[in-house]
Amino acid sequence: MSEATKPSFENSPLVSILMGSKSDWEEMKQARDVLDQFGIPNESLVSSAHRTPHHLVDYVSNAETRGIEVIIAGAGGAAHLPGVIAAHTLVPVLGVPMESKALKGMDSLLSIVQMPRGIPVATFAIGGSGAANAGLFAVSILANSRPELRDKLVKFREAQANKILNEKLD
Ligand code: RP5
Repeated sequence: MSEATKPSFENSPLVSILMGSKSDWEEMKQARDVLDQFGIPNESLVSSAHRTPHHLVDYVSNAETRGIEVIIAGAGGAAHLPGVIAAHTLVPVLGVPMESKALKGMDSLLSIVQMPRGIPVATFAIGGSGAANAGLFAVSILANSRPELRDKLVKFREAQANKILNEKLD
């Protein structure tokens, strides 16, 4: 089979980043930036558990057969998105609480973290740091079966440690 006709599985998205509103993107794009940094094919879209429930279920139901291995879901307020996604797929779901205006993200955090037994969602820190760490966690999951990616993760950790160790204080 020639290169041109080989199925390009690793070029199709492996990670999906969903969010309940475009207003979440400033925080959620920090997950996308991490995945891009590691060269992981990804896709991002807005779909809401409350505002577009049928679209969300259609998308999530087809994610695994499309080759998606991890779903990162950011939501704020009554943040049901990650839990509803997890209810419709076996793909691991990483939930990121958005920093809501009214309650500074405590509402989002508690909504996402308190899943009922049986349907897990891994929950990250509120906001951009949580989104970036969800991206790194997705890298770790994918690295379990991809030695080249694992090497990149080792180098990332080394570079991060060296940066800290070389910090100069005035
Ligand atoms: C949630 O409601 C979204 O995830 C967002 O964080 C929050 C507010 O959405 P907008 O009113 O800004 O669209 O569904």
